[in-house]
Amino acid sequence: MTARILAVDDEKDMTRLLKRTLESEIDCTVSMAFSGEMALNVLEKDAWDLVICDIRMPGMDGFELLEQIRQRHPDLTVVMLTAFGNIDSAVTAIKSGAYDFIAKPFEQDEIIFKIGKALERSRLLLENKQLLKARDKDFSPLVGQSPAMEKVFQKIDLVASSDVTVLIIGESGTGKDLTARSIHRRSQRGKARFIPVNCPTIPEHILESELFGHKKGAFTSAYQDKTGLFQEADKGTIFLDEIGDIGLSIQTKLLRVIQEKEIKPLGDNRVRNVDVRIIASTNQDLQAKIAAKEFREDLFYRLSVITIELPPLRDRIEDIPLLAEHLVVKNCKKLNRPLKTISGGVMDLLVKHSWKGNVRELENVLVQGILYAGDDEIRRSDIPVSETGPDDCRDTCLNAHIMDLPYKQAKENMLTRFNHEYVGALLSMTHGNITQAARNCGLDRQALQQVMKRFGISPDDFR
Ligand SMILES: Nc1ncnc2c1ncn2[C@@H]1O[C@H](COP(=O)(O)OP(=O)(O)OP(=O)(O)O)[C@@H](O)[C@H]1O
Ligand SMILES: [Mg+2]
Repeated sequence: MTARILAVDDEKDMTRLLKRTLESEIDCTVSMAFSGEMALNVLEKDAWDLVICDIRMPGMDGFELLEQIRQRHPDLTVVMLTAFGNIDSAVTAIKSGAYDFIAKPFEQDEIIFKIGKALERSRLLLENKQLLKARDKDFSPLVGQSPAMEKVFQKIDLVASSDVTVLIIGESGTGKDLTARSIHRRSQRGKARFIPVNCPTIPEHILESELFGHKKGAFTSAYQDKTGLFQEADKGTIFLDEIGDIGLSIQTKLLRVIQEKEIKPLGDNRVRNVDVRIIASTNQDLQAKIAAKEFREDLFYRLSVITIELPPLRDRIEDIPLLAEHLVVKNCKKLNRPLKTISGGVMDLLVKHSWKGNVRELENVLVQGILYAGDDEIRRSDIPVSETGPDDCRDTCLNAHIMDLPYKQAKENMLTRFNHEYVGALLSMTHGNITQAARNCGLDRQALQQVMKRFGISPDDFR
């Protein structure tokens, strides 16, 4: 993208020279300001990547302008123009927060090199900021005030400040993923990476090299070295989702990572140290797997230094109103719809429902409600839950609420329900893998993607 530079100098010829030189060599547009005051005004009005400013100017001088920029636009990169040989002012400029300085009269090569570097810095700063923002946007907090959830919050507090391995247990959709992310964000590792690994979706022979990496030539298709996820998560957290499904040989290697804090990429003789916190999750009975010799007991004890058990939603119905409100706000934003309220009738139904799919199912129902609400309120006819329970509603399409609607709306409503349930189930089974889901239902990938787009179904919800 074309960079936007502001050149500030009371000598108009100098700013013009800067403009000509830079615009001919770098992908940028250079605007000009002839005093510090003018520069501050211009800076307010637009987004800028870089300011080049002279030190000696009548009125507000370069140092004063630099100070003002540091206060008002702390991320903006500033390069100062200093009189040739004036080392003192160059040093003062850097000490006052300028990124670099260029001596006047400047050499063309030098200025292009230095400005190129300064723009690279601005780009990195911006990228970093956008990444952090995106991460904050993606993250939604764990909600709940039932005694059962209070216990969960206490445990999260307890483990966040340490590096202990945590095992999160809970039925599907109870918030295992979100709990792992909460622990990571609240830990000292919060600013480093959080790498989720959905163990069952990765075939066993690939999982090993995914986790630990491999050397070129380690196996037939290993055309180049590959860094494993453990190394990528260095200083951060790795989340081994659905750990109950991994094979015994990988279990042995995991045990080694936990005990020795080192990994050995496939085909490599050297071991590498890694500093990674491990959080694992399961919705299976690991004790039964241990009894069946499918899960190593020693690994289980290593993983479950602390266990956090997430209660099913039916055991904490007092959380449903709060959760429902939260999920509606979250998904209205995500779907870019005006904020909706939940009618009293809908809330009563939500509290009575049995929620076999837990919070995930509640969220899916509310997403349909949001898509179907004709105005700013989600009503009973907008959601696929009836008083007799969800299964009855699924079996007979024509429940009383549908019959209250005009034909077109009823048809659209049924279509949405059908697609959310059918495509949702497909994606759930493939953990959000669209190609696999398309194969399973006999559509091609593109056709399935179109259906998902039309009905606002996101594969991320199933990953
Ligand atoms: N306590 C909660 N507060 C807010 N949102 C929640 C809560 N629990 C779950 N959710 C939301 O419900 C959905 C499912 O949660 P999550 O993916 O964490 O569950 P899970 O236990 O990992 O499910 P699965 O076993 O299917 O992988 C997510 O969109 C998540 O944001
Ligand atoms: Mg999960």
